[in-house]
Amino acid sequence: MFTKKVQDGLNDQINKELFSSYLYLAMSAHFESVNLSGFAGWMKVQSQEETEHGMKMYQYVFERGGRVVLEAIAKPAAEYKTPLDVMKKVLEHEKKVTASIEALYELALKEKDYASEVMLHWFIKEQVEEEKNVNDIIELLKSIGDNPAGLAMVDQRLGFRKKG
Ligand SMILES: [Fe+2]
Ligand SMILES: [Fe+2]
Repeated sequence: MFTKKVQDGLNDQINKELFSSYLYLAMSAHFESVNLSGFAGWMKVQSQEETEHGMKMYQYVFERGGRVVLEAIAKPAAEYKTPLDVMKKVLEHEKKVTASIEALYELALKEKDYASEVMLHWFIKEQVEEEKNVNDIIELLKSIGDNPAGLAMVDQRLGFRKKG
């Protein structure tokens, strides 16, 4: 059964996904401003994916006959340091999102809402993927240290990411 508690949890998660989208767009804007267009493009795709995550849940709430309530989206930071610092912030943020989705999954189980449980499987798998991708970039950035040619190479590589 689709309960009010699950509906509230989903609405809360929609807000978190949309905040993620906003956060990554702010990071994209930062990379544009420091002429790292590959990083900027990667973050823009990431931002679009987060909007899609929010919309997936938005649509799902309606499918269950629920009500979507949109809350204010928090302001993301505008100032950032090195690409490595930014990517570490992304990983930190994604880990929080993972914990939040897992808590939502626990709630669906507790409420015996099996349909929501199944829907959330997709998100649980997606979080594994996201954390891995960001971790790979962090490792790559660590390996190049402060070598400018290395950074240019990573920037070029990240620029190949296309919208999925
Ligand atoms: Fe997401
Ligand atoms: Fe994410």
